[in-house]
Amino acid sequence: MCGIVGYIGRRNAVPLVVEGLKRLEYRGYDSFGVATADGRINIIKKQGRISESCVDPLLLKGCMGIGHTRWATHGVPNDVNAHPHTSCNGDIAIVHNGIIENYSEIKRSLTAEGHTFLSDTDSEVVAHLIEKYYNGDILQAVFSAVLHLKGSYALLVICSSEKRVIAARKSSPLVIGEGDAEMFASSDMTPVLEYTRKIIFLEDGDVADIRDSKVTIYNNKEPVERKSELVEWDFESAKKGGFDHFMQKEIFEQPDVFFNSFNIEIPEKAVADLKKASQITVVACGTSYHAGMMFRYMMEKYCKIPVRVEIASEYMNFNPCKNSVMFAVTQSGETADTLAALRSAKNENCITFAITNVLGSSVTRSADHVLYTRAGPEISVAATKSFTAQLAVLLKIVSCLCNDDIEVEISGMHPVIEEALLYDAEPAALICRDAASLFFIGRGIFYPVSLEGALKMKEITYIHAEGYAAGELKHGPFSLLCEETPVIALCIKDDSYPVMMSNIKEVKARGAPVIGIGSAGDIDLEEICDFYIPLPKSSEISEIINASVILQMLAYKTAVLLGRDIDKPRNLAKSVTVI
Ligand code: AGP
Repeated sequence: MCGIVGYIGRRNAVPLVVEGLKRLEYRGYDSFGVATADGRINIIKKQGRISESCVDPLLLKGCMGIGHTRWATHGVPNDVNAHPHTSCNGDIAIVHNGIIENYSEIKRSLTAEGHTFLSDTDSEVVAHLIEKYYNGDILQAVFSAVLHLKGSYALLVICSSEKRVIAARKSSPLVIGEGDAEMFASSDMTPVLEYTRKIIFLEDGDVADIRDSKVTIYNNKEPVERKSELVEWDFESAKKGGFDHFMQKEIFEQPDVFFNSFNIEIPEKAVADLKKASQITVVACGTSYHAGMMFRYMMEKYCKIPVRVEIASEYMNFNPCKNSVMFAVTQSGETADTLAALRSAKNENCITFAITNVLGSSVTRSADHVLYTRAGPEISVAATKSFTAQLAVLLKIVSCLCNDDIEVEISGMHPVIEEALLYDAEPAALICRDAASLFFIGRGIFYPVSLEGALKMKEITYIHAEGYAAGELKHGPFSLLCEETPVIALCIKDDSYPVMMSNIKEVKARGAPVIGIGSAGDIDLEEICDFYIPLPKSSEISEIINASVILQMLAYKTAVLLGRDIDKPRNLAKSVTVI
């Protein structure tokens, strides 16, 4: 996701736009740009963070301007791919947040009509499409252009000869701030609250004609009434979208993130390389390693294809894989251990894949194929939405290789994940808060789900927590079980349910309290556990995703009760770039 800001009014636009972009950097920061219109379009745009740039957009003048801080999705971060993008004649400038799914088709068509494109982005097609329909009225041109766009967009558009900013939104947030003889537009309220608290929230399909003292909003070209709201949020609260922490906000973004990530296109060449693979190896660290482990269970179950999964830092201690396929799963794309393992595989003539969340990251420059998750920037050190996004992309691979039924199952998941987010994890967190140690146990794919649940818990609450294969606990860790060591047991009604229930009884017999997470309506599980958390009635895959979401919320709530620094836990970094 990116951040966009617009201004029109009585003041010089650029200082306000630049300050607004700095406040939106948490939405993306690999490049930035500003454009003004004062009879002509003036643009400054650069790779890098606006807050660290030596380039001074303040050189630009004008009382009308738009700006963009980027989280690259199409086209690596560089000066040319930075927004704003302009029409061929340079008289129209746009900034965009979202993904234009059909940009290739539009680009081909406009190129055939003589348009020249400068960037590798999807967004640039919007500037040329508006130019195609421009006939002296920028509003009408935007009306016509957006009819051709598929995907998501929050757009701000200016034209050199017209004193107005046009805003348009579909599936990406966009708000308008009503000031005193000045108007603001932005991806969210963060840049606006300093100047006005009168906020209009645009709705899907809205196109707004913003002038210095009034805004007219249309939907399907008809004027509509959108009342402004008086917002009491402060700057910090607005940056987190009203949530208390970025982790909480990112947990709640997961329904969209899962859906968007599952719907990526996997190139045919990549699928072909996978289909002929004699062996698939996954290397990763931390949460990404747990995603890799879950991929193994999925591939074994749905495709009967064995997958080797290695902790990246240990990979070098084994015989390297040769002439096969290696996946590097890494949110940041910068984890040194993972990069080292990938380079080693390339030296052994392996075909390499990167599954990452950051366009242009180091891993993308090493791998033969790159599959991007669509999680957007993950600010909290603890990985949540990026994990779910990785699972979505890995499921997409499974679906492409061997199981079309998955597509059907996924199509109904959005509301089911949303239902899981409604669960109040606080009562269960109260059980965990004072624990000496916590154990998370599961069988099958719920074993790596348990490992991930334990990692989330330990990294943000500082309580010692371990994930275990449920069948393993009796081989030693039983000696640790007592009243102070709650066990979180994942016990879904699948093939391993009977033996999992036995494991829970064994744990209970040693005095440890059990929090059971299971299928909805499981009265047997509810009866034997000290605390029962039902997963929404759903498919097998959504029970896996929702179990992970519930464990994230359990860790989060426990950390809140303990007053931890949730988004920046002690001793940790978001990206471990040393081995
Ligand atoms: C997860 O919550 C941790 N922040 C950490 O384990 C992380 O998953 C690990 O460092 C791997 O990072 P990557 O996905 O960027 O490679």
